[in-house]
Amino acid sequence: MIYLHNKVIHSRINQELESLKARGNSHRDVLEITYSNSTLQHIALMESHTDTDVVIMNTRGDILISSEKVNGGMKKILEKNLPQVPRKGLIIQSSWKDERYIATVTPFISDKKNEGYIYMFKDTRDVEDLIAQLNRHFLFAIVLLLFFMIITIYFLSKALTRPLIAMKESTTKLSKGNFSVAVPVRSHDELGELAQSIQSLANELNYLKKERNEFLASISHELRTPLTYIKGYADIARRKELDASERSRYLEIIHDESQRLNRLLDELFNMARMDVNTFTISKETIQLSKFLQTIHEKVLPAFTNKKIQLHLVCKDHLFLDIDPSRFEQVILNLLDNALKYSNEYTVTTIKATESLSSISISIIDQGVGIPSEDIPHIFDRLYRVEKSRARDTGGFGLGLSIVKQLVEVQGGTISVKSNLEQGTCFIITFKEIKYEDSGSGR
Ligand SMILES: Nc1ncnc2c1ncn2[C@@H]1O[C@H](COP(=O)(O)OP(=O)(O)OP(=O)(O)O)[C@@H](O)[C@H]1O
Ligand SMILES: [Mg+2]
Repeated sequence: MIYLHNKVIHSRINQELESLKARGNSHRDVLEITYSNSTLQHIALMESHTDTDVVIMNTRGDILISSEKVNGGMKKILEKNLPQVPRKGLIIQSSWKDERYIATVTPFISDKKNEGYIYMFKDTRDVEDLIAQLNRHFLFAIVLLLFFMIITIYFLSKALTRPLIAMKESTTKLSKGNFSVAVPVRSHDELGELAQSIQSLANELNYLKKERNEFLASISHELRTPLTYIKGYADIARRKELDASERSRYLEIIHDESQRLNRLLDELFNMARMDVNTFTISKETIQLSKFLQTIHEKVLPAFTNKKIQLHLVCKDHLFLDIDPSRFEQVILNLLDNALKYSNEYTVTTIKATESLSSISISIIDQGVGIPSEDIPHIFDRLYRVEKSRARDTGGFGLGLSIVKQLVEVQGGTISVKSNLEQGTCFIITFKEIKYEDSGSGR
């Protein structure tokens, strides 16, 4: 603005000086055509009615005529020694700030006798008025510019800070443990990218939190099963009327289960050390009949105690590639359900069958059954049929979701058939068959 201001003033002054010079030049033209007293007077008269003044001097320095009375400011200029003045005129006073007049001079020669100089003057007060007016315009422009600039800056900074404030609020929520935040992504610039990063961080944390909760729930479920057996069998073993061999059988199971619990805790401790939230699956080839026999022995007393028969049907030549402790968890969970949801004097069967390309293990009970509308949901986490029925048996609805997960990570599938009041059958199927003699495949 300052540069523009200076430029405009400079060119305005130049314009004034040039027009002053042009006026002097036109007086010269008139004088050179008809030099006479009346012409001189005519020129003086003309100038006396304008805001410029003229003084005409001969070469000896005598004033021939002037439109105004020659005052001190004019005299100062008239007394200046003139250099060689070109025909088109010369600016002899241009500093409008300090002097009273700006002035130009133009030489004239009408004939040998009559030659001299035409001095043109303009009062610098007029120039100052002009400049003052210009300054007012400039001031107005500056105020207007500042006004719009402030408004623009205000809205621009608002637009910039709004997403930042939203992100700050989101990160505060995150730091307080609320991971379900939604950070709005409004642009595709750096701010947008930052918002996106915060959002994915929140999602990741949310996922980790969910995974951790699920994991803790699964762990407690896994720990609960052996503990239930330990407690149940300890209660039975305490009975006085029990004979020694039976008591030692119960104590054996208690011992086995305690060991399993120990192994489980060791594994958990290792997982905590390695900071992983899932059990690892380590598969080995097992003989199915032996494996199921051990489980059968372990749970039989619990079934007998509730007056439920537990049968095992499995041929000796069947082998499977699975993680025994994880798979034991699967069978125990299913048997636990069969026990919980069956009445006295019913039969539960563990049955392993083979077909051409698969092995199936079924847990068949004659219990209360599952209503058909609930069947699609029973493998969901925390889903329980009939809350009142479930309350008596006191579970969390976790068992089957864990079973499904464990079966699937080991490469199997699980399905269910059930009829109300008749019984339920869970079937686990593994596609790949192992035989004792031929290794894997058939
Ligand atoms: N063999 C079965 N007979 C009848 N209903 C069953 C049987 N197995 C499961 N269900 C039904 O399916 C629901 C889900 O079973 P799941 O094992 O997931 O949970 P739960 O046994 O209730 O609790 P948890 O296993 O966590 O202790 C149960 O509430 C039960 O109503
Ligand atoms: Mg269960």
